[in-house]
Amino acid sequence: MPPIIDVQHLIKSYAGGGRALDDVSVEIESGEILALLGPNGAGKTTLISIICGLTRITEGTVSVGGFDVVKDYRKTRALIGLVPQELMLEPFETVFETVSLSRGLFGCKPNKSYIESVLSQLSLLDKKDAQMKELSGGMKRRVLIAKALSHEPKILFLDEPTAGVDVELRRDMWNVVTELKQRGVTIVLTTHYIEEAEEIADRVAVINGGKILLIEEKDKLMKRLGTKQLRIELQAPITTLPDSLSDVDVQRADDGMSLIYHYDVKAERTGITSLLSTLASEGIVLRDLQTYQSSLEDIFVGLVTEENK
Ligand SMILES: Nc1ncnc2c1ncn2[C@@H]1O[C@H](COP(=O)(O)OP(=O)(O)OP(=O)(O)O)[C@@H](O)[C@H]1O
Ligand SMILES: [Mg+2]
Repeated sequence: MPPIIDVQHLIKSYAGGGRALDDVSVEIESGEILALLGPNGAGKTTLISIICGLTRITEGTVSVGGFDVVKDYRKTRALIGLVPQELMLEPFETVFETVSLSRGLFGCKPNKSYIESVLSQLSLLDKKDAQMKELSGGMKRRVLIAKALSHEPKILFLDEPTAGVDVELRRDMWNVVTELKQRGVTIVLTTHYIEEAEEIADRVAVINGGKILLIEEKDKLMKRLGTKQLRIELQAPITTLPDSLSDVDVQRADDGMSLIYHYDVKAERTGITSLLSTLASEGIVLRDLQTYQSSLEDIFVGLVTEENK
């Protein structure tokens, strides 16, 4: 199947500024959840805004569902639901009106029961007649999601959906996302919460300084870049490492109460057996052993800091 979103050699320059996007190419498959990770100012919102047809392209092409986002704007925009980063709502409209109007804007027939089901999923049904100005910040976020879903889009963009929201809303949101995925909706989300990307995404893209540094299946990414750490807790502290360990990637930690050993999960030999036997022959007694898999966060921080050097 051709990708549902196809971005090729996209460049965005703002007047007087540098490049917000610098030769970005991304193909997003129908039905996948892609997490877009990147620090502030990386270009995430700019990329989403261009795909949604809200920001002008400087160079390059973007198509959604096989249609060009510039030439066929109405067609492409109708396929997309956007939960924007900024709260933008009419203060005197009620929840139900706002969501229904949004559906109407996309030319969909009114459908009260569908809208009510969306409101219910977002725990907003009892607020359906409340005006926007009466809602708390978290409830307004829920309304933005309901609006984005009002016209039953095939693609959903969530731009920092969980920044500053409480645990309950996050849980509701991920329930909605999971259900949408089951229905075949393609989801692109940006987040600063790396553990969310780790939990929910099929693929992860890392963007920094307007460039895509990497895009890969999450599981492969974790495997490819993941190193494991073995923590060896000792019965008694050691002041220096024995010479027999000088060629081994092992460090003293916790004032000599433990040793940290890094190894490659893919390597044929991890070196653990020989490390342990060396320790035994040096008379070093172990109390406990623990292993840690490095997280997406370690990988992300590593990539971004390397790029900024
Ligand atoms: N309307 C604009 N005019 C000029 N520059 C802009 C405009 N919008 C964004 N930029 C610049 O483009 C770059 C990318 O911004 P963008 O909003 O896409 O980042 P982001 O990855 O969404 O960041 P954040 O995580 O803070 O939301 C930044 O340097 C920003 O200052
Ligand atoms: Mg942004």
